Amino acid sequence: MVEFKLSRRSTLRTGMLGGAALGLNSSQAQSQITLTPFMDPLPVPPIAQPVAPFETKADVPTTNPDRSTAYHLSGPRKVADNTVYYHVEQKQAYHKFHSQLPATSIWGYDGILPGPTLITQSGIPALVRFANHLPENDPVGIGEPITAIHRHGGFQAPEDDGYPLDTFAHGQTRDYYYPNAPELGLSENELSTLWYHDHSIDVTAVNAFRGLFGFSMNFDALDSLAGEDDPYPAAFRLPGMMVGAKRFYDVPLMIADRSFDANGQFVYNSFDHDGFIGDPRLSVNGKIQPYFDVERRKYRFRLLNCSNARMMELFLVVNGKATPIHYVIGTEVSLLEKPMANVPSLRMASAERFDIILDFSRFAPGAEVYIENRMLQINGRKPEDLIATGPRIIKFKVSSSTTLPTDNSSVPTVLRTVTESPAYLLSKVKVERTFEFGRSNGAWTINNEFFDENRVIAKPRLGVPEIWTFKSGGGWSHPIHVHLANFFVLSRDGKTPPLLERGRKDTVRIGWKEKDVKVLVQFNGYTGRYAFHCHNMEHEDMRMMGNIELQP
Ligand code: C2O
Ligand code: CU
Ligand code: CU
Repeated sequence: MVEFKLSRRSTLRTGMLGGAALGLNSSQAQSQITLTPFMDPLPVPPIAQPVAPFETKADVPTTNPDRSTAYHLSGPRKVADNTVYYHVEQKQAYHKFHSQLPATSIWGYDGILPGPTLITQSGIPALVRFANHLPENDPVGIGEPITAIHRHGGFQAPEDDGYPLDTFAHGQTRDYYYPNAPELGLSENELSTLWYHDHSIDVTAVNAFRGLFGFSMNFDALDSLAGEDDPYPAAFRLPGMMVGAKRFYDVPLMIADRSFDANGQFVYNSFDHDGFIGDPRLSVNGKIQPYFDVERRKYRFRLLNCSNARMMELFLVVNGKATPIHYVIGTEVSLLEKPMANVPSLRMASAERFDIILDFSRFAPGAEVYIENRMLQINGRKPEDLIATGPRIIKFKVSSSTTLPTDNSSVPTVLRTVTESPAYLLSKVKVERTFEFGRSNGAWTINNEFFDENRVIAKPRLGVPEIWTFKSGGGWSHPIHVHLANFFVLSRDGKTPPLLERGRKDTVRIGWKEKDVKVLVQFNGYTGRYAFHCHNMEHEDMRMMGNIELQP
């Protein structure tokens, strides 16, 4: 069974190899390309615009005849009257990563990289129809036109979660229904920073590498769409405001590494299952080393590491020296109970997010402020120790005006009050589970087993918290992601987790410096099957994934 799957996969991989991808060491290929840093302005992805309501599909096409019929569910069963509709087309396009680099053939949501930002509001569901117009015989050879879309961090039914076998092929569409209601109705569990990306079985890494990812942000009465202009007295008034179809002062930063050949085309080694590590100059919102003009006021940035495998540690640098990050207000999908001030650096693995506030009024007019990555990583195994200075990935050009602009935003001292604290949940724990993340035959295992869609590795009961221990073997580091869960990190090697890991999270790194990490996890709201996996996408595709099936 396992043998069959691995070889089916190798055939698939060999079959889709393009000339450019074969046997090339990515770091060799990229080192020849000289690019002037901070030449191109930072692109901010457009906001997805609603479309007229459409008939929802009665059934969802599936390309997997061997799927258990129990999970062969129909499209959105019931759509609330206030649902907002969207239409997103997945297609091939050309994208410039740098003005000195020829345009790269990408796959993108609406043909752009990152895809359009999906903005939602709590209590207002969204129905998104994703159409698959990806080419069937793409000459680049990176990616398979078979897709599933996961809104990462989302609290949605199993059939709308982008389960890896719920795929749809070229020429097909699939509707995803996002209720946008906080888990348990608890306001502390309101969704904030999400992203969506390809999650297709066996080919998530190549499809996401090719460009299938985008941001999604959810707002509610407190962290509101009106942001700093909100007259509602309880509103947080965080930096950010909507003006027509654009949002200002609230900027997503999607950080990823890629490698390019001299023609600007992607280089990807399909035989490397350790995890893709590309050009250390990274790209932010699809530009290599961009600049961003900022006013001397507060900005909110949503940082996401959407690399396939690279881990990073980001520092704010001015005049060659690291300076603290003014506030961290959220981790992953949730805002923190209290903002953390003066944070030295942000360590992030694939899929981890930080919601931060930078106050550029604290810098001199005309200052140049950089984000620098000081985590060196040369292969998919794990990062090396931190280095004194690393590649600068974005430059903020602070306005030279000496008069400060209006800034109505604030950073409240309390954001989401935590009522279901770890201490409270711990008293209700009845089940503990251990998951060991290992390696076998060049592929990846959880508790010594490869992913099998017909096997369930945990059946947690709704509303009953559990302690899960994640262990890493063989000196490898893995970012572990649990779908539908908003967990607390209890400990790293028995020690209290660092401050930045004390808020709610959906992804946690294991095995760089520590052997085990314990998390407190509780599921609510939906029964059924969800994925649980390593978010090093090459590991995920090579079977480091399991099914969890939530019980009433
Ligand atoms: Cu972002 Cu299951 O993934
Ligand atoms: Cu997820
Ligand atoms: Cu892994």
